[in-house]
Amino acid sequence: MSCAASKSWCGPALQFNIVRECSKSRCRVAKLILPHHTLETPTFMPVGTKGTMKGLLPEQVADAGADIILGNTYHLGTQPGKEVLSAAGGLHQWMQWPRALLTDSGGFQMVSLLKFAKITEDGVTFQSPYDGSECVLTPEESIAIQNAIGADIMMQLDDVVDVKETNYERFKEATLRTTRWLDRCIAANKNTASQNLFPIVQGGVFTDLRDLSLTQLMERDSPGYAIGGLSGGEDKEKFWPIIEHCTRRLPQDRPRYCMGVGFAPDLVVCVALGVDMFDCVYPTRTARFGCALVDNGQISLKSDVYASDFSAIDDACSCSTCHTYTRAYIHALTTEKNPVGCHLLSIHNIAYQMQLMSRIRASVKEGKFTQFAEDFFKKFYRGQP
Ligand code: GUN
Ligand code: ZN
Repeated sequence: MSCAASKSWCGPALQFNIVRECSKSRCRVAKLILPHHTLETPTFMPVGTKGTMKGLLPEQVADAGADIILGNTYHLGTQPGKEVLSAAGGLHQWMQWPRALLTDSGGFQMVSLLKFAKITEDGVTFQSPYDGSECVLTPEESIAIQNAIGADIMMQLDDVVDVKETNYERFKEATLRTTRWLDRCIAANKNTASQNLFPIVQGGVFTDLRDLSLTQLMERDSPGYAIGGLSGGEDKEKFWPIIEHCTRRLPQDRPRYCMGVGFAPDLVVCVALGVDMFDCVYPTRTARFGCALVDNGQISLKSDVYASDFSAIDDACSCSTCHTYTRAYIHALTTEKNPVGCHLLSIHNIAYQMQLMSRIRASVKEGKFTQFAEDFFKKFYRGQP
């Protein structure tokens, strides 16, 4: 394999080989070789915050087709903590997950979950939900925890702006601080040979700030890049042009990761724009509300229309839930709040996301991605204006 060609990139802990590009969009299929697993992109990464996918065993997540899952630095750093994780030999060993892992750096989760999280130049200051004491997650501490976790890909600590913020100056400060924190993360990383550190492009919906962020972060020549700050439910008219702008400038021979995005139509649009990796809590969160993902949106199994529907959620789905159980059975479980219902739906929803990405990859390889996208949107929005 040649790493000199523009369609391949080799780093100490990552190889990215583009195997096929779509001729009508920026979509591409690539082989991503990571220390613990080799996978194809575009890919979706289910979120397993604390070393489990709520209610699922790691082997069930692998059976549903996941090649790489997300762990969270903030949660894992608190429980079991970096000493226990180190002693266990890292998160792969701790949770018996043999495939690839990516850890988010923690700041985003604190800003979105904790009421009193505050950002200073030092790091993210927060009140411990366990004992109320004041704690600071610095870039150095985030990397120390992520080094103990040992994930294939680590994310830099970034300055994430609150979703309600509208002030341009605050976005500018966050963009510049994110670069300064990247440099502190790079300096703190002790596992440069075995863990990849991805920068996160920030800048909200401001094109000039995204440009500033792209210029600064790309000077750091990293093995892959993430696009952050877009999972707050902003309008699609603002969200997609920012993705388009970022993927136009990001190095084409490196993986591009759009953080916190997992709604099926967004996945299809973003892969068309050249995004390779995604994560989102959506498939497992919506399962907890009794919903199953299908090609024309989602169906709520709590609805009485499924009370005696003895078909599978989706006949075309290859997951263990669809092979074995009926909509009627899952309806009965979810209406009585039996956790088994949520468990069966989570398996299906993760498998749905993975199969969607696999269908996208197959269509690119056959030279039929734009046809796939057209058929997908017709089906998804069928009957809607
Ligand atoms: N998850 C979703 N969006 C973001 C982001 O902007 N930064 C980080 N660190 N995680 C995210
Ligand atoms: Zn299924």
